[in-house]
Order: sequence, then structure tokens, then C-alpha cells
Amino acid sequence: SGNKRLEEVKSLVSAHPDFPKKGVLFRNIFPVLRDVHGFKTLCDLIVEHIKSTSPDVELIVGLDSRGFLFGPIIAQLLGIGFAPVRKSGKLPGETYKVSYKLEYGEDSFEIEKSSIKQDQKILIIDDLIATGGSMKAACELVEKAGGNILQCFVVIELNCLNGRDKVNKPVHSLLTY
Ligand code: PRP
Ligand code: ADE
Repeated sequence: SGNKRLEEVKSLVSAHPDFPKKGVLFRNIFPVLRDVHGFKTLCDLIVEHIKSTSPDVELIVGLDSRGFLFGPIIAQLLGIGFAPVRKSGKLPGETYKVSYKLEYGEDSFEIEKSSIKQDQKILIIDDLIATGGSMKAACELVEKAGGNILQCFVVIELNCLNGRDKVNKPVHSLLTY
């Protein structure tokens, strides 16, 4: 069942108090990827979720860097392409850029202007939403580049930080804490 599979994945996510700063409870997704069955289960759950909620999605956009763990494999499983939102200074050619705040710092993101077609149907993916600053910035970039955002998808949502309230697009998550 869906619940059994969600529980399998959730049991593999580890928790680390006071990392990377005092007061932050860090949720680590990497043990899921280290477990071949757990990662397969997670990919199956994500693909099923997307096929049932956004069947007409045309491009997956993933956030630097943990969105890159899921974006390309999910895009391949769906038979569509992948494009990255990167920390600034890493992408060649013409880009759009925005600055943002996150749970434990500040950064800026860029997207290649050529990576999205006008009105292309986009699903944005990341491992986790905390304050929502990263996802909000990614949405701004995708819209600047002409994309039509169907949904923002994260594996993990940290409920107490209300990140989804900052994002003015539908936010879907598999696991909540
Ligand atoms: C983490 C995480 C999300 C973001 C969530 O990435 O992977 O992208 O923070 O935080 P927010 O909702 O408060 O914006 P981080 O910036 O630590 O970079 P990384 O993926 O390179 O580890
Ligand atoms: N990114 C922002 N906050 C985080 C947290 N608590 N755990 C893992 N990644 C994060």
C-alpha cells in the first residue's frame, strides 16, 4: 500500500540536531538513496504522484543541489526533459538571477534563459521545503523564463516553518515532519 511504502522511505530519513547550525534539526535524505529498495520505492511513489496530479507536465526543473538527486531520474521515468536551477555563477550563457533566504543562510539562484519554452508546463522538484525561500526563488526564475508552473514537489516538508505559505503555487509533499 501507499502508506507502507511511505513508512519505508520515512524510516530511512535520518535526523541531526544542531546541524549545520544550532537550533536546526537537519533531515538527511541520503540514507534513502543508499538503500537500493528504498530509493526504488521513493522513485515509484514520486512517479505515481506526478502521473495522478500533473499528467501533462512537460519539463522537470530541479533545485541545486539536492533537487538534482531526483529531477533527472524522475524526468527519465516520465519520458520528459530536466533543467537545473543552479546556485549563481555556475551556468553559462544568458541567465536570470534571484537572491533568496533559507533556513540557515542566504544565496542566489540562476536559470538559463534558453532552458524553458514559453508556457511550457513545469514541475519543480526538490528534496525538502523548510522556510520556502528556495522554492519561492525557483518559481520566480521559472516564470521569468516563461514557464507555466503546475506544481512544486518536495519529498520532505517541515510543517512548522510554513514554507508552503511563501510559495504562491501548489506545493505537494510525500513526507511531513
Ligand atoms: C536545502 C534543501 C532545499 C532548501 C530548503 O538546500 O535542499 O533546497 O535548503 O530550505 P528553504 O525552504 O528554507 O529555502 P541548501 O540550500 O542547503 O543546498 P544544497 O541542496 O546544496 O545542500
Ligand atoms: N534545508 C533547509 N532546512 C533543512 C533541514 N532542516 N534539513 C535538511 N535540509 C534543510
